[in-house]
Amino acid sequence: MFGMKAVVLPRYGGIQDLESTDVPEPPHGPNEVLIALKATSVNPVDWKVGAGYLDSFLPGEFPLIPGWDAAGTIVETGSAVTGCRVGDDVLGYVRRPVVKWGTYAEYTVAEPGMIAPKPDVVDWETAAALPLVGLTALQSLDAVRVKQGDTVLVHAAAGGVGSVAVQIAKARGARVIGTASTSNHDYLLSLGVEPVEYGNGLLERLRGLAPDGIDSALDAVGRGEVDLSIEAGADPGRVVSIADPAVREKGGKYVFVEPNADDLRTLTDLIEAKRLTVPVTATFPLDRAAEAWEASQTGRTRGKIVLTIA
Ligand SMILES: NC(=O)c1ccc[n+]([C@@H]2O[C@H](COP(=O)([O-])OP(=O)(O)OC[C@H]3O[C@@H](n4cnc5c(N)ncnc54)[C@H](OP(=O)(O)O)[C@@H]3O)[C@@H](O)[C@H]2O)c1
Repeated sequence: MFGMKAVVLPRYGGIQDLESTDVPEPPHGPNEVLIALKATSVNPVDWKVGAGYLDSFLPGEFPLIPGWDAAGTIVETGSAVTGCRVGDDVLGYVRRPVVKWGTYAEYTVAEPGMIAPKPDVVDWETAAALPLVGLTALQSLDAVRVKQGDTVLVHAAAGGVGSVAVQIAKARGARVIGTASTSNHDYLLSLGVEPVEYGNGLLERLRGLAPDGIDSALDAVGRGEVDLSIEAGADPGRVVSIADPAVREKGGKYVFVEPNADDLRTLTDLIEAKRLTVPVTATFPLDRAAEAWEASQTGRTRGKIVLTIA
């Protein structure tokens, strides 16, 4: 047993409750690997979990270490693990059924099915930024079968999920329209996306851009974007939301991202083929996680916020 530095919540709470402290190493079983982390990333779900909003299906235990994105090096493998070795550099989305041993720490634990090799072409920060948003984007676009020739609308295109989703849709040969405030329009143009401002008049602006209607939409906002997408012409069965479970009542798909090593490899293949980048726009050392949560809670993140781990 050894100790490690971690950021913990002693109870459900918010930014003011985060503590930088020493905790024991995470317990790991025969089917798991222990990863020495170099970086993790901040996702809005981290502070939603921290507030207790997901307790009914992903209960927390305290002290709770938040975080599900991992980038680091395997330092131990369980006796039943195959396919991974000590010394492998990996990235992963390491969500487990009980939220306790997360990734805001020097070490975390993962099953091999949650991780994939880190491509040499990306740094640790980028590797940590990819897994959760990348898997969400990929699994959402798959749920509504986005393909070549589609006109796809991505709501919150400049955020973590949106930034990856637009690039995957482009890589598939779709035409991509993305909503963002005007401050992010140049950024979206740089990703090959046609930007459109959200808010009053969005439907009319969309009709101007796509007079024949859109084919498909990804809602990462959850404030009426599902209805608007259907009004803009999308087949309800090809509207996916990651922020509004009521999409199902309208015939659309709700996605809650799942760990999946094959999907991670699809994403890292796109990175290696230079068809996907994960823009990291802010980096904080782990012990400044509170500032990173403050930045995330503004709702204005472009790309990703990363925490580095010494
Ligand atoms: N179900 C799942 O599995 C799953 C997985 C991942 C994320 N999520 C959820 O999906 C949401 C997005 O996640 P994320 O990681 O992409 O968040 P994020 O990175 O924090 O998103 C920030 C972005 O949202 C944009 N934005 C804010 N309000 C908007 C609006 N009304 N219309 C369009 N864009 C708007 C901002 O653009 P501007 O600055 O230009 O306004 C900013 O670029 C969160 O609620 C998250 O919890 C769900």
